Amino acid sequence: MMDWSQWRSQHMLGADEIYLNTGSFGSLHRRTFDDYVEGLREFERNPTMHHPIFWDRADDARRRLGHFLGSPAEDLAFTSNVTVSMNMAILGLDWNEGDEILASDHEYTAIDNCIHHAEVRHKLVVRRAVLPTSPTSPQQIIDAFAAQITPRTRLLSVCHIFSGTGTIVPVTELAALAHEHGAMIAVDGAHAPGHIPLALAASGCDLYGGNCHKWLCSPKGVGFLYASPEAQERLHHIVVGHGYRKEGTTRAEDGRMLIGDRPYMWCLDQWGSRDLPSLVATATAVDVQEQIGQQAIAARGRELTTYLRQRLEATDWATCLTSAPGAEGLTNSLTAWMLRGIDVDDLRAQLHERFHITTPAGRRDDGQWMRVSTHYYNDTAEIDALLNALEQLRAEA
Ligand SMILES: Cc1ncc(COP(=O)(O)O)c(C=O)c1O
Repeated sequence: MMDWSQWRSQHMLGADEIYLNTGSFGSLHRRTFDDYVEGLREFERNPTMHHPIFWDRADDARRRLGHFLGSPAEDLAFTSNVTVSMNMAILGLDWNEGDEILASDHEYTAIDNCIHHAEVRHKLVVRRAVLPTSPTSPQQIIDAFAAQITPRTRLLSVCHIFSGTGTIVPVTELAALAHEHGAMIAVDGAHAPGHIPLALAASGCDLYGGNCHKWLCSPKGVGFLYASPEAQERLHHIVVGHGYRKEGTTRAEDGRMLIGDRPYMWCLDQWGSRDLPSLVATATAVDVQEQIGQQAIAARGRELTTYLRQRLEATDWATCLTSAPGAEGLTNSLTAWMLRGIDVDDLRAQLHERFHITTPAGRRDDGQWMRVSTHYYNDTAEIDALLNALEQLRAEA
């Protein structure tokens, strides 16, 4: 039996904080924090001499991350976040006027802006798969994409786990759909690494951007872009620096593209000077989660989600947006609901000031919204504290 409270006590979260927002930023494990700080201390003793040494260590961290994500390390670029990763994917491809991007109507604003930018700049057409807010089967999502795919579709761009609802999209099936129609797929995996187990190479996804600083609990500002070897052949640098050679690319023995003697993806992320200790400490974040086990982390998230959902369903003021747990893998550790009877404008601040609870809430076109992230370092007492606080605020309203 796992002692989850032990894991909680090893994170840097303040003892009095009820932190239910890993969906925005994860909390560092103490080992990751210590390795990051120690790395900074060592680096800063001589930034010039340590620069190449820390790049070697970052390459080791990339190997550790690749193992965690089910990807050859050669197919991973280290980015600073998924916004950059998706820009590298979408803006790094060649486009012709009239090409189509197929996205859903639930994409995250920053990534949707990138899609719009490509649409305007390259005179593309963006089509939308219209998704149910709370799907009851993955097939509903696949059907919505299949209904909008055309012979001109060049790219499916889709979020793996929607931030507004927690819905998990069947990306393997969507990759197959894209390929059947001669298109590629680029996935915004902001919420997936460290939340649900991943096997990127086996998923069939061509391009997959992810964040390490949410559920994987790495230092902030660490993300990645995975590209399959075939996708790499079509991907250009969007930031050109030392990772570029005027004489072009060469080949490794396994056929993968190289620039100089480095894998192509390891050159796409050479944007000039970087915060190398944060990349290096990502290896420790991976170690921590491999020690617990990805399946165990996901199972713990589902257990807490189920508890939260039962408590919400017992109220008359919350309507869950997140699909029911167990609905064919459509959800895991993110739960969102519409809220009645409390004004959300001040709710975030009130929850923190009065109850030390951190969780997002806001207005949408259709009402007031709230979301809770239940990671392995959370527990049922924290969920009870949130529900009790909401009941109290409702009574006072
Ligand atoms: C679904 C989704 N995509 C992309 C992002 C952007 O992440 P970042 O700001 O780390 O690039 C987020 C952030 O919350 C997100 O929820």
